[in-house]
Amino acid sequence: MNLGRLNHVGVATPSIEKSIATYRTLLGAEAIGAPFDLPAQGVKVCFIDAPNTQIELIEPYDESSPIAGYLKKNPAGGQHHVCFEVPDITQAVFELKANGATVLGEPRIGAHGTPIVFVHPKDFGGVLVELMETPREAH
Ligand code: CO
Repeated sequence: MNLGRLNHVGVATPSIEKSIATYRTLLGAEAIGAPFDLPAQGVKVCFIDAPNTQIELIEPYDESSPIAGYLKKNPAGGQHHVCFEVPDITQAVFELKANGATVLGEPRIGAHGTPIVFVHPKDFGGVLVELMETPREAH
């Protein structure tokens, strides 16, 4: 396994619009992407750039959204996952499983257009970990 850079921190929110306003007002965030829908993943997404990483705001796309349950427990939203880059998602999944980790589902295309996969929080002391294949243009 080759742990890559922290690509983003996922933050669940009931309103991307309100969260954008908060990051802009309280933290002076300026590099804020346009929100977009990922219906296949059941989420709306917006990236805010920090100098060394990104915040991924995620809002439920509909009531069947995988983060709808999270927001039921945390109505104001909260820190949802951390995402690390890996050079090869297939290899990463193979090694995780070989080491007894619980990989959630098959790799799928994530918000950055490269394959992603989630690893169960029980394997990381309660932290939901997303692994994402490093975008090719980053090299
Ligand atoms: Co993410």
